Amino acid sequence: MHKDLISGFDLSEQDIKTIFSLTSKLKKKKIDNCLKNKTIGLVFQKPSVRTRVSFEVGARQLGANCLYLAPHDIELGSREPLKDVARVLCRYLDGIIARTFSHEHVIELAKYANIPVINGLSDLYHPAQALADIYTILEQGNGLKGVKLVYIGDGNNVVNSLMAICVKVGMDFTVATPKGYEPNKQIWADAQKIAKQSKSKLVHCYDPKVAVKAADFIYSDVWTSMGQEKEAAKRIKVFKDYQINSELLKCVGKKYKIMHCMPIHRGQEMTDEVVESKQSIIFDQAENRMHVQKAVMALLLGSK
Ligand code: CP
Ligand code: NVA
Repeated sequence: MHKDLISGFDLSEQDIKTIFSLTSKLKKKKIDNCLKNKTIGLVFQKPSVRTRVSFEVGARQLGANCLYLAPHDIELGSREPLKDVARVLCRYLDGIIARTFSHEHVIELAKYANIPVINGLSDLYHPAQALADIYTILEQGNGLKGVKLVYIGDGNNVVNSLMAICVKVGMDFTVATPKGYEPNKQIWADAQKIAKQSKSKLVHCYDPKVAVKAADFIYSDVWTSMGQEKEAAKRIKVFKDYQINSELLKCVGKKYKIMHCMPIHRGQEMTDEVVESKQSIIFDQAENRMHVQKAVMALLLGSK
């Protein structure tokens, strides 16, 4: 495994299997001392409920200490050169969880800090989320190969990360977005190359009704990501036909489960009825963030 977890593309299929197998062990056995005497810094430029709390609690359950550094504590990239911050932090810390706007900031932290850096969401990727999501799908008991995940909404950081993990593990991944909001072209092309080898079907379309046909899992995320707040009104108009609601779900034609990385904007990307339906596994995803991240921290920072 690489020193850092920057994107799902860093991981081989075997790495993902190793993470998931350790996740299952750690989920059963809550406490472990594999990170005893380690200190992990959470360097966050954006707000967070799940990522912050799940990494902190998970790290403590593994015996580590945590230090949360809020946006104004460090002023990443503006108060002093990031390469200096990285080289200082690694003199005190054993690992960094970074949540940034620019993806380049995570890359630079990882380059200059000689300790593991885990991406806790950047504008381009959210690998810890995607790992937890695919682990949640695995827990449903039908394996991963050929399982169809459909994402409806914005071609954003969550899509880029789901795409990376899906093609590595041989899942089929369909994405429906409005025109102009497709996933990053280069990431899509890289994922298609991997999909050819793993026999994943990676499909993009503009029609959510076509996309959801025969889906096993249907996923959405916010229409306006952190940092895009000025575009919120425009996005509500552009994405209005991309809501996951009971009308759309009539097109699936088989049993399905509903997923969302949270936070949820009920009435925008998903109706309250769908969020609260018995098909929803949204809160399992949130819980699994902690279990999967414990496995990642144990593998990158510990003796596992
Ligand atoms: N899903 C997720 O990363 O949530 P937070 O932004 O609350 O961490
Ligand atoms: N795409 C969202 C994910 C939030 C967990 C954002 O970046 O704000």
